[in-house]
Amino acid sequence: MLRIENVGMRFGGLWALKDVSFEVERGTILGLIGPNGSGKTTMMNVISGVYKPSEGEVQYAGRRIADVPTHDVCHLGIARTFQVVKPFANLTVRENVGVGAMYGRLGAKRSARDAFARTDELLEFVGLARVAGRPASDLTIPDRKRLEVAKALALDPEILLLDEVMAGLNASEVDEALHLLRTVNERGVTLIVVEHLMKAIMSISQRIVVLAEGKKIAEGLPQDVTSSPAVIEAYLGARYVKRQAAERERKAAAPPAEPPA
Ligand SMILES: Nc1ncnc2c1ncn2[C@@H]1O[C@H](COP(=O)(O)OP(=O)(O)OP(=O)(O)O)[C@@H](O)[C@H]1O
Ligand SMILES: [Mg+2]
Repeated sequence: MLRIENVGMRFGGLWALKDVSFEVERGTILGLIGPNGSGKTTMMNVISGVYKPSEGEVQYAGRRIADVPTHDVCHLGIARTFQVVKPFANLTVRENVGVGAMYGRLGAKRSARDAFARTDELLEFVGLARVAGRPASDLTIPDRKRLEVAKALALDPEILLLDEVMAGLNASEVDEALHLLRTVNERGVTLIVVEHLMKAIMSISQRIVVLAEGKKIAEGLPQDVTSSPAVIEAYLGARYVKRQAAERERKAAAPPAEPPA
């Protein structure tokens, strides 16, 4: 459904992405992980048309979209949330989501009344019905994250890109968010999930792509990817990997401890 081909993104002298390729199959959940500054948000920006990649191509349902402006990408069925949330601060929560329902992929076919009916459904679904009439600027952090998701869902995406929507949530809120995302996926939306919370990303992703310093360093099933030495090194540093190897050698060389008498 989505094919990233040798994508490079350069900012001045810095390649935020370099020669990154991967594919996303329709109906699946892909986790995109990597240390801070590894290029995850930049990849979201390239896919959603916020940035035109310096190199490479993005194909969506067989169509090249690297040159397509972001509002058209949205109409084609790709929606995203923003890591730094971007509500219309002066509009109410309901109006924020309503804009999406009127403007997104199916928006042109909807009357204002239908758009707000869809909006109310979504507010209920993400748990924001209780603050529907409040200005978006009043919301707490978890509610701002919920609003990001509701705004994106209002665009009726086929693919939804989620950039750290679970950051700042407590454990039970993370569980709720995971349940919500699984439900969205079961209703047919393909997901690309960027998240630092390893437990969450491991439990929700079918496949994981790992970026480090703009390059793809691993891809595969969650358990395979997280046991890869390259991934452990990218997260914890070369010294940690060396220390672990030395520790293993020391244990292998040492005779087993005497059992207590
Ligand atoms: N618009 C920009 N102009 C210049 N440099 C940028 C721009 N956007 C991103 N970068 C740089 O590109 C690199 C990748 O940034 P990006 O935000 O994609 O990382 P990330 O993986 O999302 O990190 P985090 O986990 O902290 O959100 C960083 O070095 C960042 O400073
Ligand atoms: Mg980011």
